[in-house]
Amino acid sequence: MTPKNDRFLRALRREPVDCTPIWLMRQAGRYLPEYRATRKAAGSFLAMAKNPDIACEVTLQPLRRFPLDAAILFSDILTVPDAMGLGLYFVEGEGPKFERPARDEAAIANLAVPDMETELGYVMDAVRTIRRELDGGVPLIGFSGSPWTLACYMVEGGGSKDFGRIKAMAYSAPALLHKLLSITTDAVIAYLSAQRAAGAQALQVFDTWGGVLSPALYGEFSLKYLQRIARELERGEGDERAPLILFGKGNGPYLDQLAASGAEALGVDWTVSLEDACWRSKGKVALQGNLDPATLYASPAAIRAQVRETLDSYANGNGGSRDGHVFNLGHGMSPDMDPEHVAVLVDEVHAYSRR
Ligand code: CP3
Repeated sequence: MTPKNDRFLRALRREPVDCTPIWLMRQAGRYLPEYRATRKAAGSFLAMAKNPDIACEVTLQPLRRFPLDAAILFSDILTVPDAMGLGLYFVEGEGPKFERPARDEAAIANLAVPDMETELGYVMDAVRTIRRELDGGVPLIGFSGSPWTLACYMVEGGGSKDFGRIKAMAYSAPALLHKLLSITTDAVIAYLSAQRAAGAQALQVFDTWGGVLSPALYGEFSLKYLQRIARELERGEGDERAPLILFGKGNGPYLDQLAASGAEALGVDWTVSLEDACWRSKGKVALQGNLDPATLYASPAAIRAQVRETLDSYANGNGGSRDGHVFNLGHGMSPDMDPEHVAVLVDEVHAYSRR
């Protein structure tokens, strides 16, 4: 069913739109006082994510404030390794951790693709609940971490500054790392398929840590598995097709290869200009991005100026046309950002791009 506001899906198909659609990575989060209140009542982030009604409520919160053109499922990329038995938990101020990291032969041999309707049933229930509550207003984005990015957390046991453990594995035990990435890719494909079946209308893969790799390692341990997802993920046909967006921090050097992967769209960070990104991806895909998130700390006038530059950079690279551009930040929002500035950002994207 086509949503009432289908700008986002039309842009991903590179069809003409009345103005450039916008959504924001981490649009539901701690920068919103209503999110902080819901989180306090629920007790923790995981308690919110595991309760479909609460996950639905926080998904909708940013849409009540701002005329955003898509909703994104409220969940986390680490639900998948959690369901694979690693034991996800959060330490205040330190981010996500795993009780049982997968860093040796025995732990990796033990991993299996989780059952999507039981072990990850709370995610699928959240997708179904959100679709019902959105009532055809804007499309719903489902997502997963990339195999490489998930493997980073699975091997390191949490966030990392230098990724020493997983890089050591890449250099000294590449076959073991491939084994981990291969089963994780099976899980990612099953996870995204199940979200589509439950009602997700577009699917984004977050390769947050691909950019920490040398080009040779990126090709072998990240790109190869993104290509497999783009090739194997069943995503429907025509207007019913759920477009696949490959977002990667630091993916600028690889846009030509990513554009040839078969994904419908690429998400880029702010270290590449959209004009260059257009050239590099040769008009094969839609592009999503790429305002520096720190722009939201600047004045409203400066935010508006940077929005115009970003919109024009895309049009310059795309033969003067704004078609095929989904506006976003180059990475997620931070808890200390001002909601008033987000309102300015969304307003300027729509107003300046409207024809
Ligand atoms: O974009 C959205 O609004 C949808 C929800 C979403 C969350 N995490 C909610 C969340 C999405 C798409 C993610 C993806 C995610 N999670 C990524 C990839 C995207 C990226 O930002 O690069 C990564 C690397 C993670 C792992 C993770 N989960 C981290 C590093 C953190 C932050 C920990 C912290 O204390 O800041 C989380 C927790 C998390 N996931 C929060 C939210 C809103 C903060 C939870 C809270 O404390 O309220």
